[in-house]
Order: sequence, then structure tokens, then C-alpha cells
Amino acid sequence: MPILPRTVALWLMRLGLIAAVGVHIHAAYGLTILNHNARSVKYQSPRDYQVANFASRTMRWTGVIVVLFLFWHLADLTWGWWNGTGNDGVFVRGDVYGNVVRSFERVPVATLYIVANIALGFHLFHGTWSLFQSMGWNNPRFNKWRRYLAVGIATIVVVGNVSFPIAVLAGIVGE
Ligand code: HEM
Repeated sequence: MPILPRTVALWLMRLGLIAAVGVHIHAAYGLTILNHNARSVKYQSPRDYQVANFASRTMRWTGVIVVLFLFWHLADLTWGWWNGTGNDGVFVRGDVYGNVVRSFERVPVATLYIVANIALGFHLFHGTWSLFQSMGWNNPRFNKWRRYLAVGIATIVVVGNVSFPIAVLAGIVGE
């Protein structure tokens, strides 16, 4: 506004995001099939992982957690399905600040946001790291920086996102 009517810019961004989610899920599904075809019989002995770390081995779990969180999150703060069930919570369309405060004042909801965003952090860490691998940008000269970048991006997102529920629970942000 006022360059474009409000809903036009909003829906352009939403369509971009929906397309990105679709492409991402398609790529993850394709990778799962490739992985399965490469070795359809499970390893029979316990693994002693040399390269795969916790984040890379849990990509499917953290991915599923983030998708489930996304639906919860839309229902909570965009559609306003759950806010009415809070202590004195009421969902008011357009009152973004108030909706966030009323939602995060409920400890189980704030906890869910914190856990989901930590899962997102692990997912982003490995995603950023393996992006370089997929693009073939792998060189001992800068692999150290690649790791720093993955840690940096994941940390900024997790610390930033988790600061919201913590600020509300700590009473720093309130109505
Ligand atoms: C604690 C961290 C987060 C907070 C405080 C937060 C806050 C919000 C709020 C207040 C809205 C509603 C905005 C409005 O009504 O105008 C919203 C919408 C949304 N959030 Fe979050 N969010 C967080 C994390 C995330 C994460 C991790 C994702 C993605 C995985 C995400 C994806 C979205 C999407 C897709 C929408 C809908 C936007 C639309 O209207 O099209 N959010 N968020």
C-alpha cells in the first residue's frame, strides 16, 4: 500500500511461499526415493557414523516437525482457531501484536514454538551446509567457512524466533 492494493502484494508473497513449499516437499520426496533405491535393504549392524551428524540424520524428522508446526502456526496466528481457547485469549484479526502476546502467554503453546523452532534450526543448519554440497561448492579452502555460515544462519533464526515466546513468558513483552 499504496503502490499495490494490500491483498495483491500479500497474495503474491503467499503464492511464492506456497510454490516454495511445494517444490521443497517434491525435492525431499525425490531424495527419499533415491536414498531408498540406493539401498533398499536396511543395514543389519549398528552404524558407526563417520560423516553423518545428528542434524543430517534427522532431516526427515525435523522437516515433518516444521510442516506440522507450520499448520499449527497458521491456525494459531493467521486463522485464529485456537486463541479463543486460551486463558482470556481472544483472536482479533489485524491485532498482530495482541494475538502474539495472548497466544504465547499459554506456557504449552510457547513451549511448542520453542521446540519447533529448535527443530527448524537443526533443519536449517544441515540444509545450508548441504546446499554447498549439492551445488558442488566443496573445497578444503573454504569448507570451514561453509560450516560457520550454516551455524550462523541457524543460530540467528533460532535465537530471533525463540526470543518472541521467551519475551512474552518473561513479561518483557505484554499487553
Ligand atoms: C516464534 C517465531 C514466530 C513468530 C513470533 C511468528 C509470528 C507470526 C505472526 C504474528 C503471523 C501472523 C501475521 C499477520 O496476521 O499479519 C505469522 C504468520 C506466518 N508465519 Fe510466523 N512466526 C514465527 C515463526 C514462523 C516460522 C518458523 C515459519 C515457517 C516455518 C513461519 C511462517 C509463517 C507463515 C507462512 C505465516 C502466514 C503469512 C500469511 O499471512 O500468508 N512463522 N507469523
